[in-house]
Order: sequence, then C-alpha cells, then structure tokens
Amino acid sequence: MSASLVLVVAMAENGVIGAAGAMPWHIPSDLKRFKALTVGKPVIMGRKTWEAIGRPLVDRDNIVVTRQAGFSPQGAIIAGDIDHALIMAQALAEGRGCREIAVIGGGEIYAQTIGKASRIAMTIVHGQIAGDTAFPEADPSLWQEVSREACPRGEKDSHATSFVVMERRGAAART
Ligand SMILES: NC(=O)c1ccc[n+]([C@@H]2O[C@H](COP(=O)([O-])OP(=O)(O)OC[C@H]3O[C@@H](n4cnc5c(N)ncnc54)[C@H](OP(=O)(O)O)[C@@H]3O)[C@@H](O)[C@H]2O)c1
Repeated sequence: MSASLVLVVAMAENGVIGAAGAMPWHIPSDLKRFKALTVGKPVIMGRKTWEAIGRPLVDRDNIVVTRQAGFSPQGAIIAGDIDHALIMAQALAEGRGCREIAVIGGGEIYAQTIGKASRIAMTIVHGQIAGDTAFPEADPSLWQEVSREACPRGEKDSHATSFVVMERRGAAART
C-alpha cells in the first residue's frame, strides 16, 4: 500500500504562512508539534523552505524540490520536480515502513501538492499577520475538519494557536 500525503503547516487566520523568507512568529510549542508530526517520515519541501530552515531536519528524509541542476546541499535529496519528489518519498517511506509522507512547505509546494493530499495538519496562528506567502485555500467541499484543539499561548510563544486536522472528503487520495 502506498503512503499517503499529509501537508503540515502553520497558518495565520488571514492565510499567511511566511514573510521575507521566514515565519512571522515564534512559537516553540508548535515547533515541538511539527517535530512529532514529521519525525520518521520523508519530508518534501521547496528550495526556499530548505534555505529558511538552514539545516537538514534530523530523523527525517529531507527531499528538496528545485529546478537548479547544480543544487546539491549536504543532508538533502534533490528532486527536479514534484513527481520525482513523490516517487522518491514513496520508496523511502516503504523502506522505513511508514505510512505517511509529510509536505512541509512552502507556499509553492503546498499549492502543487494539496490536490494529492489526504490530510492537512494545520496549526492556526491566532492573529492577522502581515506576510508575502500564503497557504492555498482548502476548499470546504473537498476537505472536512475532523479535529480541533485550542492551544493556549505558552510562555515563550508569540501567539496562541489551534491545532486543526482536516481530511479529504470521500476516498483518501494517494500519491
Ligand atoms: N508556516 C509554515 O508552516 C511554513 C512552512 C514552510 C515554509 N514557510 C514559509 O514559506 C516561505 C517559502 O515559501 P515559497 O512559496 O516562497 O517557497 P518554497 O515553496 O519553499 O520553495 C519554492 C522553490 O521550490 C522550487 N520549486 C517549486 N516548484 C517546483 C517544481 N514544480 N519543480 C521544481 N522545483 C520547484 C523552486 O526552487 P528553485 O528556485 O531553486 O528552482 C522554487 O523557487 C518562507 O517564508 C517560509 O518561511 C512557512
């Protein structure tokens, strides 16, 4: 059975996910959740997100999508397009015996994979936050919310959040 695709994202109430190449908030409690959601899985990201993170994510297969032929950073597997990223991620998921592949952004990569995803694990950052990168609209006729948990602002967090899981209506999509 092939692994399914989950988009893991933190998004402000106005849809913003990034500003000037970074995330416009500081929420350590969400970074913990991000780790728990992605460890042990292949993760797919765009080249700009790779550069924003600045290092390979440990205990995950880091697959970076880029059109640059010569791009070969340490600790990442390079894919020249989304389809190749998904093929590699499937093989790696099979090798790990894991049932999910995580897409971790950014905006360009979410927009190109939301149509193939089965699940969206979304942190909603409470606030209207200025930025230049947004998450694509999750069409409510295609996606249903299956859980929501309010997460009060931790001592070191810039914002309170809610953690929402959405699933594709009907049969699960597969890569
Ligand atoms: N809030 C969150 O959860 C979250 C998560 C991740 C990122 N972010 C934020 O989002 C922003 C980055 O997002 P972004 O949309 O600007 O960039 P991105 O999606 O991270 O990366 C875009 C790059 O990916 C490559 N790419 C995209 N589509 C491709 C395709 N079909 N085939 C081959 N390569 C492809 C290109 O790289 P080349 O130019 O090298 O060809 C493109 O420039 C940052 O602000 C980051 O902090 C937020």
